[in-house]
Amino acid sequence: MSRQYHHDIVIIGAGAAGLTLALELADQYRVAILTKADIREGSTLYAQGGVAAVLSEKDTIESHIKDTIGAGVELGNPDAIRFTVENSKASIDWLIDQGVPFTRYGESDEYHLTKEGGHSHRRIIHSADATGLAISKTLIKNASNHPNIEFFPNRVAIDVITTQKLGLGGQNRAVGMYALNLDDDATEVFHGNFVSLACGGSSKVYLYTSNPDTASGDGIAMAWRAGCRVANMEFNQFHPTCLYDAKAKTFLISEAVRGEGGKLLLPDGSPFMAKFDSRAELAPRDIVARAIDHEMKRLGVRHVWLDISHKDSDFIREHFPTLYKRCLEYGHDMTKGPIPVVPAAHYTCGGVVVDQHSLTDISHLYAVGETAYTGLHGANRLASNSLLECIVFARSAAKHIKQFNADLTHVSIPDWDESQVTDSDEDVVITHNWQELRRFMWDYVGIVRTNKRLLRAKHRVDLLQSEIHEFYANYKISNDLLELRNLAQVADLIIRSAMSRKESRGLHFTLDYPNKLEQSQPTVLTPEKKGQETKREVSAV
Ligand code: FAD
Ligand code: SIN
Repeated sequence: MSRQYHHDIVIIGAGAAGLTLALELADQYRVAILTKADIREGSTLYAQGGVAAVLSEKDTIESHIKDTIGAGVELGNPDAIRFTVENSKASIDWLIDQGVPFTRYGESDEYHLTKEGGHSHRRIIHSADATGLAISKTLIKNASNHPNIEFFPNRVAIDVITTQKLGLGGQNRAVGMYALNLDDDATEVFHGNFVSLACGGSSKVYLYTSNPDTASGDGIAMAWRAGCRVANMEFNQFHPTCLYDAKAKTFLISEAVRGEGGKLLLPDGSPFMAKFDSRAELAPRDIVARAIDHEMKRLGVRHVWLDISHKDSDFIREHFPTLYKRCLEYGHDMTKGPIPVVPAAHYTCGGVVVDQHSLTDISHLYAVGETAYTGLHGANRLASNSLLECIVFARSAAKHIKQFNADLTHVSIPDWDESQVTDSDEDVVITHNWQELRRFMWDYVGIVRTNKRLLRAKHRVDLLQSEIHEFYANYKISNDLLELRNLAQVADLIIRSAMSRKESRGLHFTLDYPNKLEQSQPTVLTPEKKGQETKREVSAV
């Protein structure tokens, strides 16, 4: 018997996007928030640089729009970009009202704004170098104190339940979610009149990533299986500077370090970025990451260096207290000399296609935050536009949902069907496939691609998917199996999108088509009606 829970809205994820949505709806609706690990764990917690917004009198909305279009190499949706930027100030005001302690200039009332790559103004509001921690702590505290919000940690959402899957007539709509409770391995049913996927991105599909373990693309894979379109998955952002240290597990070194004057250096101490772009260290991320990758391959070195030690050491300690301390733990003193850095997978620019209200192709199913494709980022995300997108689009979703009556009767949802499955006696298949997938994605579908490499990756992902489908249909589910299934799904979507783009643009660079086409469109994939379903999903409903 699956446990059954009833709420007005079921939100999967407690990052900036999920929490904003919950807080905006809680006065009117009963909200359940599921998280697959501890409540705080997710990319939001680790965000460093800050949130981009037009806050300075010297800055303009048109300038932020122009920078966003430029970083996205003209592939962003102009309406989505304008909508986001025009709502940026209101979103920051909302965060301030929630109590987020942004850094000010000394004792003054004015907020300190920093700069990052691709921005032509100082417009990043931040909380020292741990902005995500400040946002996460504040919003979780407020949500925990709200009587209408209930958290369900250690619950892995498995699949969205829709009226179509239940065989009910009328317009297809989302009515709930199946989840696995990791505390007792029981399956549960969460009924909701609205469901929102706020699961973050999928950078864990790559071997090296700045992201926490939660970033396994579950939201994108679940939406795809439910029948939603997915767009621009070929554009996975690689952050140029993660600390190169085996013990650090790719710890991010914020772009704000370069924004405040940090220089990238080769092993002989010479700067190299000006050779690649006139904006040098402050060129958009795709350009900086590719330049580093090029130099590493050319010289056969494992990392390059990032140096900010020419700045006053008090300035460094004050602006980057977290980075300074963490680097010191690994034996690197930022105030005294350069630190070793490498690029790593950082952000999923594509995702589940949504409109300006964050509504997906399925009625009552929303997608917010990194899971969603709103059209904002185009072929490459402008630094610090992601947290902004989380807040703007979650608030927009809330406004849309509030127009509806929450008192729809919950439909009857059957228990999760485990009658056909047994305990696995070969978990090694999961571990092996997991490692293989992340390795070939890094080697064949990384910063520089070719037709041959993509084809190799496609053959491998096809084979893995068929093995995983068989495993999934015959054995009891576990978190590792669910994540692997989602990662393989997302890898397939990335590879198919990359194969269909016959040009190099932004984050998608291929040696076979090194130039940008004059005219280009987002890559939109549409699921086949029946094709994605496994035996289990069919029998479960
Ligand atoms: P997340 O914060 O990733 O939260 C995802 C949530 O979904 C988690 O609660 C997780 O448990 C839950 N979840 C996932 N799958 C399931 C499932 N199957 N079942 C149940 N729960 C699930 N962006 C900026 O704009 N500025 C920055 O300075 C910045 N710095 C960054 C630094 C780092 C190191 C990283 C990794 C990212 C950074 N980014 C930054 C990007 C930004 O932080 C993320 O894009 C953003 O926080 C995503 O928020 P989210 O709410 O969409 O998802
Ligand atoms: C950083 O601080 O460099 C991360 C900013 C971002 O991902 O937008």
